[in-house]
Amino acid sequence: MNLNELKVKLDAMAEEARAELSTLERQDDLVQARNRYLGRKGLVKDLSAELGKLPPEERRLVGQELNQLKDAIEGAYDAQLKRLEERAREAALAQGAADLTLPGRGLPPSGGHPLIQIEEELIAIFRAMGFDVATGPELEADLYNFESLNFPADHPARDMQDTFFVEPLQGREDILLRTHTSPVQVRTMLKFKPPVRIIAPGVVYRHDDDQTHSPMFRQIECLHVDRGVTMAHLKGTLTHFVQRLFGPSTAIRLRPSFFPFTEPSAEVDVQCIFCGGDGCRVCSHSGWLEILGSGMVDPNVYRACGYDMDGITGYAFGLGVERVAMLKLGIPNIRLFYGNDLRFLSQY
Ligand code: DAH
Repeated sequence: MNLNELKVKLDAMAEEARAELSTLERQDDLVQARNRYLGRKGLVKDLSAELGKLPPEERRLVGQELNQLKDAIEGAYDAQLKRLEERAREAALAQGAADLTLPGRGLPPSGGHPLIQIEEELIAIFRAMGFDVATGPELEADLYNFESLNFPADHPARDMQDTFFVEPLQGREDILLRTHTSPVQVRTMLKFKPPVRIIAPGVVYRHDDDQTHSPMFRQIECLHVDRGVTMAHLKGTLTHFVQRLFGPSTAIRLRPSFFPFTEPSAEVDVQCIFCGGDGCRVCSHSGWLEILGSGMVDPNVYRACGYDMDGITGYAFGLGVERVAMLKLGIPNIRLFYGNDLRFLSQY
């Protein structure tokens, strides 16, 4: 074929394809027809083979026309396909089918789960004070959950936390669901030398279940270890924290307590946010609400983490996110957080 013959052929094929494709009524036929033109062994391929026989300067010209032909066939195919789909949709609608092309109803905007909102607020306060966020696993080794935190095996201090043990896992019998976020202290100190300033938010598990306790709940751990850290730093950090959370005039008090991994240890109370300290039902007429446990890191914990303790001190504390959220949002029963009841959730 010479140049002119080829051009005539191309034009004719475009015409023929357009006419054919626009009359096909079934999608299968349409696909088949398209392939007959454009397929790997299709008619257009045959013409391309002819192209190779032309002299180079003509080849370019016809090459362009060949591409236009492909576009024309592809266009005719798309147009017909659309027509068929549209017709099928109209037929289905006429028979009462749902119109799947209508936009969805969308979800009402939400601020997120109240518990997570509070957790994020707490994390933001500590981040602004310069703490990094660390994490650890929920399936934890006894070594990190207890032993390294100065709870010796069989020591009665372990009774403070009613633990879920796990069936031997990959041959290990020392795995449990962590009862607190304190093991992240150990994991962090094993990895990093002082200064260490971290918080560790996360889920913990205990065999506890009543109005204010759930077998699964959230804590935020805090650890600050450096040269010359004192209990005054602990108190200052906590004061700033509760004032950001509950308002600038909120007072705290520290009560002596015991935790194996801190010495001395203190329970931290905030002035009752409901009665301002006068005494009410929520604070059992004491004027104070207990919110977290704290203390100065026990030297035995440093030892377990391989820290050279020369001149190094630090404080730690752990607070329950549900407890704070219940106080802050005025929620009387912890189960409301986990019930997935929209009448509750949609208020936040
Ligand atoms: N881990 C303790 C608990 O869950 C809370 C706690 C107390 C954490 C004192 C601390 C701390 O870091 O210093 O009961």
